[in-house]
Amino acid sequence: MRQAGFKAELIKRSGSLTRPPILFLSGEAHRRQRAATARFFAPRVVEEQHRPLIENQADRLIDRLNQDGSAKLDAMALDLAVAVAAEIVGLTQSDRPAMARRLDAFFSVGAATREGWLARLSAFLQGQWHMLHFHFADVRPAIAARRMAPRQDVISHLIAEGYCDRDILVECFTYGAAGMVTTREFITMAGWHLLDDAALRARFLAVDRQERLGILEEILRLEPVVGYLYRSPVEDGPPLELDIRSANADPGAVGACPFNLDPDRQRADRVGGAGMSFGDGEHRCPGAGVALAEAEIFLRRLLSVPGIKLVQAPTVGWNPLVTGYELRDCRMAIDKGAV
Ligand code: HEM
Repeated sequence: MRQAGFKAELIKRSGSLTRPPILFLSGEAHRRQRAATARFFAPRVVEEQHRPLIENQADRLIDRLNQDGSAKLDAMALDLAVAVAAEIVGLTQSDRPAMARRLDAFFSVGAATREGWLARLSAFLQGQWHMLHFHFADVRPAIAARRMAPRQDVISHLIAEGYCDRDILVECFTYGAAGMVTTREFITMAGWHLLDDAALRARFLAVDRQERLGILEEILRLEPVVGYLYRSPVEDGPPLELDIRSANADPGAVGACPFNLDPDRQRADRVGGAGMSFGDGEHRCPGAGVALAEAEIFLRRLLSVPGIKLVQAPTVGWNPLVTGYELRDCRMAIDKGAV
């Protein structure tokens, strides 16, 4: 089977990419890229390299929340997800908040949901503009710096493999969607559940790290960020549409009352804590450990802020690219009277 989601048809049609991004590779070429990039995601690397980075970034965000007295959870989550993924990819030569805005403008609901040809054309042109801007402001300076002094990151690896600038740009976009957009939504969703449910929040703060990760995986099982995965057969045959929400709610896999948020549920053998939310098989998300570590470290600090409360639940939109929710404007404030 071949990747058929995430606008695979556009990648195929564009034809001019010599080296398609990892998400669209298959067979031997895909195995090679997975093996070569595994070192950025290994559990020891998450623990020794990414954890200190995530802790620093989370502290920075919580300090600002304490100063301002209020914040938007989804904006904090985007800031964190972009900071961490940018470091892994090697996008470190430009102004990060500006890069986050560029990626947000590109990936947030736009072209796919607008009506009328003029609105679609305008969305298309805006998308091209953001892509160009991302190329010149963020990706090109990063490539130039890595050519001079390679580091342990995805861009340095792609340069060493002989990727041209254009192919590196598209791989950076793939990581932008795969690593930044998804993690932002997940942290916002998990934070919303925890701010909204006093008992769950108390439990989250009382247990050890392993159990906290278990609670987060259970939230992700119930609220998968990527709703569908698509595959098409190499030979003739029907395409596959994998409904992740249904798979994650299968009582045969996840036990009774599948729509309950129950961190103690008994799953069937070989069913992971997050069900199918990180996919499975050859394309299974390599960033799962990073995303869970980000959520665990950040949300633990956030929920420990004395008096932190939800002021306004987020609006729930739909992102057709990942076939999942898009949470915006989730407002929190520190209630000084409650401290
Ligand atoms: C909660 C957050 C995340 C979710 C829900 C998620 C979900 C997924 C899913 C479902 C896939 C498989 C797609 C398919 O089979 O067609 C995938 C692939 C991928 N993810 Fe994640 N992801 C998350 C975070 C991350 C992070 C933090 C990174 C990197 C910094 C990342 C990088 C990737 C990459 C590179 C792939 C493609 C792998 C391949 O094709 O072999 N993801 N992700």
